[in-house]
Amino acid sequence: MAESPYTRDNPLRIGVLISGGGSNLQSLLDHCASGFIPGRISLVISNQADAFGLERARRFGVPTKVVPHSDYPDRLSFDRALISLLNDAQIELVCLAGFMRILTGDFVKFFKGRLLNIHPSLLPSFPGLHVQQKALDAGVRFSGATVHYVDEDVDTGPIIIQAVVPILPDDDASTLSARILKQEHRIYPQAVRLFAQNRLQLTDGKVHILESKINQEDYLLNPPWEG
Ligand code: GAR
Repeated sequence: MAESPYTRDNPLRIGVLISGGGSNLQSLLDHCASGFIPGRISLVISNQADAFGLERARRFGVPTKVVPHSDYPDRLSFDRALISLLNDAQIELVCLAGFMRILTGDFVKFFKGRLLNIHPSLLPSFPGLHVQQKALDAGVRFSGATVHYVDEDVDTGPIIIQAVVPILPDDDASTLSARILKQEHRIYPQAVRLFAQNRLQLTDGKVHILESKINQEDYLLNPPWEG
């Protein structure tokens, strides 16, 4: 078994960056509280003062900070303010959860190997914004969600875990988003748990997951097999 220093009594200190509703934050809070993740969310930062995720954090007694990006003359000074808050809170892992700002190389370097993001598509397909609509427009049969390490580019870092969801004939961007979001709430806690358990091995830009069993018969077809 991979050695992990983290337990319920000595939890991984997690910082979460949000911009909006924070349903992924909620899932991380719930899975820390249940013990699935041997970690504690020790700080939540939002660049939007009215983000509902801040309220979710407060309900769990988690310290919050609002750092409006518009208060800073450039991206670098904004990111330095974030680094300083995360550092002061002794954050070991940073999770982006619907954080709608592009981080500078300085921020990414500072937290390299301990900075995760969740994205609502099967990367490397459909990086960027409005990705559910892009998947519908492309006519793909499956979409999904990806948790990945963050590197210097947008939505390009090494992939940790993906969930696949079918696209149904009557889908619009909102029904597809809801189906994907449901899976996001499962895979983000699982990725953080793997990190905390020290089971993620990063080699040559790829993530190897220690002690993980894959059922090789788990194939998905959409439309389904009719044979
Ligand atoms: C989620 O779907 C997340 O994957 C997406 O924003 C939503 C946030 O929802 N993130 C991105 O698109 C980042 N490029 P939430 O605030 O309810 O967690």
